[in-house]
Amino acid sequence: MKKWLQFLVLITSISATSALLASGGFSDNSKQAMPVVANAKWKTECSGCHMLYHPGLLPERSWNKMMAGLDKHFGENASLDDASRDEIARFLALNSADKQDNRRSNRINQSIAAGATPLRISQTRYFTSKHDEIAASTFKRKSIGSAANCVACHQAAEKGDFSESQIRIPR
Ligand code: HEC
Ligand code: HEC
Repeated sequence: MKKWLQFLVLITSISATSALLASGGFSDNSKQAMPVVANAKWKTECSGCHMLYHPGLLPERSWNKMMAGLDKHFGENASLDDASRDEIARFLALNSADKQDNRRSNRINQSIAAGATPLRISQTRYFTSKHDEIAASTFKRKSIGSAANCVACHQAAEKGDFSESQIRIPR
């Protein structure tokens, strides 16, 4: 981010925060961070091949589509027994970007066209707009692998925390 832009964002967020404080607190929609969510099955079954992606990163229709096609999941077979699949699908839907009330999820949701059902967070317009200054070669570093490996740069990504203080790009 350009220095002057960073400054502008800082000033804007400070004034937004003071306006909120003055108005007596944070309205639901102003919650910046995604809430910490947990489901034991999700944690075991969806973290074997990659990091755990917070449900608030995609809308319900995306999770539904993904959970309906686990046998062909990005070139892998990630099939589950019906009971586990249904439990995880319910958990993802309940906590999805369009069921959440925090600024991050709302923005992601708004960046997806009504008729679109993306399966990759890393291909949403929200994601590309936030990472347009990162070179493709950076994402390909051995220590990172791909844009989908959020946790390589966002230490607290699995908790749904993408705040700037938690970012460190590995060499
Ligand atoms: C057998 C391995 C495997 C399992 C198990 C698995 N995945 Fe994946 N998943 C992959 C691969 C491979 C990719 C593509 C990764 C890449 O491009 O870097 C992927 C990508 C994704 C992405 C897209 C990331 C992005 O934004 O580009 C999401 C979301 C995802 N998986 C969710 C899940 C969920 C939810 C579960 C549990 C139901 C799950 N995965 C279980 C292998 C797996
Ligand atoms: C190569 C490291 C890297 C990877 C991998 C990465 N990010 Fe980022 N991300 C960054 C950097 C650096 C910024 C800050 C950009 C800026 O402020 O100009 C950022 C910004 C963000 C922001 C905005 C933070 C804010 O408060 O403005 C979000 C949300 C985010 N990333 C989510 C993700 C998600 C989700 C993934 C995985 C699908 C991901 N990132 C993968 C480096 C990365």
